[in-house]
Amino acid sequence: MLEKNLSNNCYIYIPRGIEQGVCHLNNVAISLLEGFIKLKEKILRNVLSCKLFTGNYPLLLEHIIREAKLYYCYVAMLQNGQNITMDDKKQVELFGNQIMMEHALFIRGLLDPTEEELITTANDFAQEYKKLLEQARKMTAQGRAN
Ligand SMILES: [Fe+2]
Repeated sequence: MLEKNLSNNCYIYIPRGIEQGVCHLNNVAISLLEGFIKLKEKILRNVLSCKLFTGNYPLLLEHIIREAKLYYCYVAMLQNGQNITMDDKKQVELFGNQIMMEHALFIRGLLDPTEEELITTANDFAQEYKKLLEQARKMTAQGRAN
């Protein structure tokens, strides 16, 4: 409620030329993201076909690609004058839960085997997010059945 009652009556000074600067920066970001996504997709393809070795998990590469694609979508929407809305809150939440579960799994996988307590903590986090994802999938399936 407090957040809802916040007002934007304050004067915001926007220096001349800043919009063009931001627009240019976004275009540079879009271009860099396109190259970044293509590079990560190529690395993933080569790792999966045993043409390239890396210490990174394939899931980490997929994860990074998904995050970059989402960020690309947000920047592209801004460039097209669209608001970044969270209309599909369920999709945003599912994406966030998937990403957080994977973060916990990556942490678990990078810990020294002697760090048992931290491994358990990371694993517990991953399991909690996994449960949330399963609950959301069940609810979605029930919603379709009704
Ligand atoms: Fe991430």
